[in-house]
Amino acid sequence: MFFFLIASVFAESIVETVNNHPGATWVAVEYPPEVITTAKLRARLGAIDLNEGPSNYVPDTSLPDNFDAREQWPGKILPVRNQEQCGSCWAFAVAETTGNRLNILGCGRGDMSPQDLVSCDKVDHGCNGGSPLFSWEWVKHSGITTEECIPYVSGGGRVPSCPKKCTNGSAIVRTKAKSVGLVKGDKMQNELYSRGPFEAAFSVYEDFKSYKSGVYHHITGKMLGGHAVMVVGWGVEDGTPYWLIQNSWGTTWGEQGFFKILRGKNECGIETTCFQGTFAC
Ligand SMILES: *[C@@H]1O[C@H](CO)[C@@H](O)[C@H](O)[C@H]1NC(C)=O
Repeated sequence: MFFFLIASVFAESIVETVNNHPGATWVAVEYPPEVITTAKLRARLGAIDLNEGPSNYVPDTSLPDNFDAREQWPGKILPVRNQEQCGSCWAFAVAETTGNRLNILGCGRGDMSPQDLVSCDKVDHGCNGGSPLFSWEWVKHSGITTEECIPYVSGGGRVPSCPKKCTNGSAIVRTKAKSVGLVKGDKMQNELYSRGPFEAAFSVYEDFKSYKSGVYHHITGKMLGGHAVMVVGWGVEDGTPYWLIQNSWGTTWGEQGFFKILRGKNECGIETTCFQGTFAC
């Protein structure tokens, strides 16, 4: 008991380790359990089949030093959502990317439906995860409908079967991607600049849960799983290059639901598993 007490007094928490780290470019915070816990984090990490290997990211010096899709396309980037306790990040990343790209093209249908993918995409695994490659292929061949037609209901981890009609009884109308594919490293900035946000998947370590602000890089804790998100910008903060990313954990986590991650070092694999779809009105 005595040794246990000594150990717990002197063992640094993840938050202390990060905030005392001399090279840290980000700030950690202890979130209340309603925002996130380690158990909740594990339940949300549903990106599978992440690419391995080095980044082939090449900075595009012809583009501005800072870019934020929300400023480039005012009012077109849909708000931060919350996947809650379901490993549906893969479905949110695809739905959000699709919704924003349709908005940018001028034929937006509001939020698109992650539930459509969670319940209907038979090559992926609902709340147990999905593959960025397969889920984009699904949107190319089968399409995705609107949030209004099939609203998100899997936040508690339960996955209803694929509905035959929209909740109001009308026929389901799905939008298909014209083409889908990997965003290569030398095209990352240009893809975002010319067509809008795209999906990225990366490895999540324990310390990511406590991210509050700044440019994230892994400092402490073990790898817990893969997470899919949406890249919305890039920039340089206090000399550190970053990707600006929209998460799907609500607005009380991170920088109002967004985070920045180190750019150019393939931090946590963020520059190897990037996917996009193209659409037409
Ligand atoms: C039912 O929902 C669909 C899809 O959201 C919508 O297009 C349609 O207008 C709605 N119909 C009625 C009668 O509200």
